[in-house]
Amino acid sequence: MQFIPELMRFENGSIVDTPQKMRERREEILRIFQNNAYGDMPSPVPVSGEIVEETNRCCSGNAVYYKIIIHCQFENSVFSFPVQLTVPIKEGKKPLIVAVNFSDQLPHEYIPVEEIIDNGFALAVVYYNDITNDSSDFSDKIAAFIPRTSSGHDAGKISMWAWSVSRALDYFLTRNDISEDRIAVIGHSRLGKTALWCAANDTRVRYVCSNNSGCMGAAYSRTWREGAESVSRIYGTFPYWFCENMKQYAENKAPMPFDQHMLIGAIAPRYVLVNSAGKDDWADPASEQNSCVGASPAWQVYGKKGYAGKEETYEIDAGDLNGDIGYYKRFGVHFLGRKDWLNFMSFIKNHY
Ligand code: GCU
Repeated sequence: MQFIPELMRFENGSIVDTPQKMRERREEILRIFQNNAYGDMPSPVPVSGEIVEETNRCCSGNAVYYKIIIHCQFENSVFSFPVQLTVPIKEGKKPLIVAVNFSDQLPHEYIPVEEIIDNGFALAVVYYNDITNDSSDFSDKIAAFIPRTSSGHDAGKISMWAWSVSRALDYFLTRNDISEDRIAVIGHSRLGKTALWCAANDTRVRYVCSNNSGCMGAAYSRTWREGAESVSRIYGTFPYWFCENMKQYAENKAPMPFDQHMLIGAIAPRYVLVNSAGKDDWADPASEQNSCVGASPAWQVYGKKGYAGKEETYEIDAGDLNGDIGYYKRFGVHFLGRKDWLNFMSFIKNHY
């Protein structure tokens, strides 16, 4: 299969064949996605964290739970959002998984807190609606702090959610119970797209898991198949996740200068797990696997393997968690469940 546009070629046509060139290509790829898909990633601002709740009775006395307000200092005003942090009670710095989620409930059907703690991870939850509503309203919460322009590539909602994870990290990395070189981010579906975009931009994220992220997440658009979401459909329904410049590709008026193997490639040489679900045709499991194959050269230029699984489409409940890019297709429907978490935690531990 040909992966076009090419990951390993600069826009000026020259080949990417050294780690240094790959780092430069990453910058180019981020710019391509900002200008044509997700919109600008807002600039970082100074951040502080205020602990407003704390208990060591969490997980039956196995963890400390904190509710923390992250204050983001803009020029003349402050944008604040809550995060929930649960840290296992044991010595030393803990690896951290940040879950950007659809709810602020904890535990939640998508988040088996107790099991995550038992595996030795600290867990942070960012609730996406606390950052900005999942709607076309650009006047609420963080959206109100980011001026709208006529550039065509103002930040869409995915960029805003991804930005907030990075701001939460700014705070977590000031704590002495979190291991700064074992930071992971996970998201499901639209938030799986968000997790990938966050990891592509933020090199402090060492491990990322996109769960059932599909179109404009992990799924390669060029191998779209009947029953799956397309760029036209996603932009038609959720234009506010993206920037206006994406419209021309959704309407097939111009060839897309990107595809999702490039988004995954921008995370190299760090670690990416792509979790699919067998019955999730809308998210296109086969195309998610294709992107893993297509992204691998970005790792190979660093002397790493990239994706180490099969090229042929996986059957149900199969995949590979050993490569730098992992892929797994579990049994069942569109969901973030226990099996997905177990995969992610194994994947992380495989790459300590
Ligand atoms: C819709 C959307 C997908 C998205 C999903 C979700 O189905 O079309 O792109 O991933 O919602 O976030 O649950």
